[in-house]
This record gives sequence, structure tokens and C-alpha cells, in this order.
Amino acid sequence: MKKLAILVSGRGSNFEAIARNIREGRLEAEIVAVVSNSPTAKALETAESLGLRAISLPSKGIETDTYAAMVVEALAPLQVDLICLAGFMRRVGAPLLEAYAQRILNIHPSLLPSFPGLHVQQQALDYGVKFSGCTVHFVDAGLDTGPIVMQAAVPVEDGDTADTLAARILVEEHKIFSQAIALVLSGAYRVDGRRIIRKD
Ligand code: GAR
Repeated sequence: MKKLAILVSGRGSNFEAIARNIREGRLEAEIVAVVSNSPTAKALETAESLGLRAISLPSKGIETDTYAAMVVEALAPLQVDLICLAGFMRRVGAPLLEAYAQRILNIHPSLLPSFPGLHVQQQALDYGVKFSGCTVHFVDAGLDTGPIVMQAAVPVEDGDTADTLAARILVEEHKIFSQAIALVLSGAYRVDGRRIIRKD
């Protein structure tokens, strides 16, 4: 069974969706650790209540590469196949990128390359786009720049606020993250430049 580590910072609804998809047989994988850089993240409580290994590894005041090395050390005994950033709100430092090259996925609540970074639903509204969505991508050294594995689009409604748009996007996040994880774990894709192409 392929082993996942989930990195979180807060609510953890994407983590919960992954755990649910595993439990209900839609995703063949095992979550071996949920690591939070915030000690108060709700996701840590959820992980414990699901009987999963919950690791609180606070990042406050710690430089990005130093923190990445701490995560590498925490995960080292667990033989992790794939790291999933599920609402993980810190940059990923070089030690983690090197230890898990092409083995870190992130979910981002916009159609990249539009609106990287933070407050992206508000950015989408302010720009006036008629569609937004979410993106699962491999993590590289840039900010939300890695090769795209999967995307889903949702319409932006005239009456939307950042919150209502975020909620519509989140429904799709909960679907495509697990689908993208399954694809990457299966290895049934090839990389052509920036393009991730499914093998038949
Ligand atoms: C999700 O919308 C996720 O896409 C976003 O944070 C939210 C976390 O929700 N991630 C980012 O913005 C990463 N840059 P969750 O904790 O309920 O999964």
C-alpha cells in the first residue's frame, strides 16, 4: 500500500476528504502521518480522532529550509511515497524538495497560473474572471508554479463573495485532490516538459 503524509495548517477539510475517499474505497493509499505547522490546527484533532499519527511541528519563527529539514527528519522513519499539501500555508524549503523530488503535491484554490499566493478567491473576484477553480500541481521551488496534474473549473456568480466562491471551489478540491493522488501513485502518466500526460 502506498503511503501518504499530509501536511496541513488549519481546518483540514481536504485531508478529511482524502481520508474519506480512502475509507470508502475510492483511493487506494494509507495516511501514515498528518503533520501540522500550526499546533492549533483542527486537522490535528481530526487526525487523532481517526486514529492517525498526528504530528504537531510548529514552524513559527523557523526559517523555511530549517523547517523543511525538520519535516524530512520527522517523516524519515515512515517510508512516505507521496506528500500532500492540504491547506499547508508555508513555503516548502529545499531539503524537503530534494528528499521528495516529484513526490509533493499541492492543492491550490485557483486555476493556476492565475492567482498564485494568498487570498486568491478575492483576487479572482477583484480581477472579474467568470470562471475560477482549483489546481493540483507538483511542488517546485516557486510559488504555486509546479507542473499541473489536475484542474477543475467553477463559475463565478455575480453575487459571489470570497467566501461563497471559496465554498464552491472547495467542493471540487475535495474531488480532484484524491483523483490526482491516485493518478500520481499509479505512475500512469508521463512528463512532457511541464505537461503531465496520462498513459492509456
Ligand atoms: C483550501 O482551499 C486549499 O486549496 C487552500 O487552503 C484551503 C485549506 O482548506 N490552500 C492554499 O491556499 C495553499 N496556498 P482545508 O484546510 O479545509 O483543506
